[in-house]
Amino acid sequence: MKQTKKAFPNDFLWGGAIAANQAEGAWNEDGKGVSIADVVRGGIISGVADREIDPEKYYASHEAINFYHEYKNDVAMFAEMGFSLFRTSINWTRIFPNGDEEEPNEAGLQFYDDLFDELISKGIQPMVTISHYETPLHLLDEYGGWENRKLIDFFSRYCEVIFQRYKDKVKYWMTFNEVNNMHKIPYAAGACRIEDGPDKLQRVYQASHHLFLANSMAVKLGKIIMPENEVGCMLSLSAFYPNTCHPDDVFGAYENRRKSLFFSDVMLRGEYPTYVNRILKEHNVTIEKEAGDEQLLKEYTCSFLAFSYYLTSTYKAGTPIYESTGGSIGYENPYLENSDFGWPIDPKGLRYVCNELYDRYQKPLFVVENGLGAKDEIAEDGKIHDDYRIEYLRKHLVELHEALEDGCEILGYTYWGPIDIVSAGSGQMAKRYGFIYVDKDDYGNGSLKRMKKDSFDWYKKVIETNGEYLYKD
Ligand code: BG6
Repeated sequence: MKQTKKAFPNDFLWGGAIAANQAEGAWNEDGKGVSIADVVRGGIISGVADREIDPEKYYASHEAINFYHEYKNDVAMFAEMGFSLFRTSINWTRIFPNGDEEEPNEAGLQFYDDLFDELISKGIQPMVTISHYETPLHLLDEYGGWENRKLIDFFSRYCEVIFQRYKDKVKYWMTFNEVNNMHKIPYAAGACRIEDGPDKLQRVYQASHHLFLANSMAVKLGKIIMPENEVGCMLSLSAFYPNTCHPDDVFGAYENRRKSLFFSDVMLRGEYPTYVNRILKEHNVTIEKEAGDEQLLKEYTCSFLAFSYYLTSTYKAGTPIYESTGGSIGYENPYLENSDFGWPIDPKGLRYVCNELYDRYQKPLFVVENGLGAKDEIAEDGKIHDDYRIEYLRKHLVELHEALEDGCEILGYTYWGPIDIVSAGSGQMAKRYGFIYVDKDDYGNGSLKRMKKDSFDWYKKVIETNGEYLYKD
């Protein structure tokens, strides 16, 4: 397509993103083991993580939307929309059911071969999250999750296997989904059972150190096994503004932001930032490190930063902050409206975050999650007229375009949940992001039939025109 002022860069990648545990189902098929997601009832924020599966209870990930068996139809629909990129995770427990085996499970490897081949045959390149809240449960039960340094070896073995196998099919890899959620949801991000308490920070920082080392090991293995490909990190980076110009609000918001950026600082710059020393000292945290750790972090940094952006909120000194899968929610911002699920909608915040991150790192960015979870209703004509989703997306993509014009290097955009999937935070199906509706409710009832929403054709036109359609009157 001819480049015009309103178009995105010619090589901009457009697509959608899901996670294996929220879509695939088939939780115990073809040799798959149990992941930490498979014992969660009701979502990782609002639900319960059981110690083992209770056959009497409903676990949304066990069937999810049956993507494992339906993926050919779904990929055909993504291709119809014109996707050039599709982000999914490899479910670690399909490859190493317990996580500590010597040999991988061939049936699991074959599934992703088939999925990637299907995508590629339709002109869509796969992008992989290596670990999206799907650590094998055995690694938590037996070793204590990422609190245990041994996990670095298990993760490295897993990376080696999947890099060797898919190096010619997957160019962009991300290590840990929203790794900065270690502070907010350590169960999901670090497979650890860490409750609030006096030792919380000690344990979170120690486990994070292991994750950093594993991230660098993945980068190292990537350079050896597939030097043409890229290994990046992935963070949850919805923004946090000061609620007022009171210096306590301004600095409080800044400090809060650094809790997240600490993770990308280490993974992209290759060392612990100096500001963390004060935090560690004040909380009596001592991170156990071994000889060679610092060198590994320094030598093997990520080549791009991928992130999720859903909302912004504000920090008001002395008021509580509540954590959601979309980001921290603090004091209400009177200038923004909320989604059906209480998340503030702020398209310009996306431009702000892209600029903030590019200024800080000067490394390519990928917006790999953004979208509107809404309560879709089927209208009398049997269709879903989700003009609110179109509006959300149009405004966010216009701001993304502005960020590109500002000079940020942004390689692509994958809308979260292009097909309805299980909500990570609440385990619901009723929180729908998709351009494609899936007939299933929160209790597991439904035919799983797929149906296009109005946003399907709209996103298709945006991709077809490489963004120009956003500016249509
Ligand atoms: C991100 C996660 O935190 O937010 C996804 O990476 C998740 O797994 C997404 O689905 C949206 O959150 P939710 O709770 O609406 O599914």
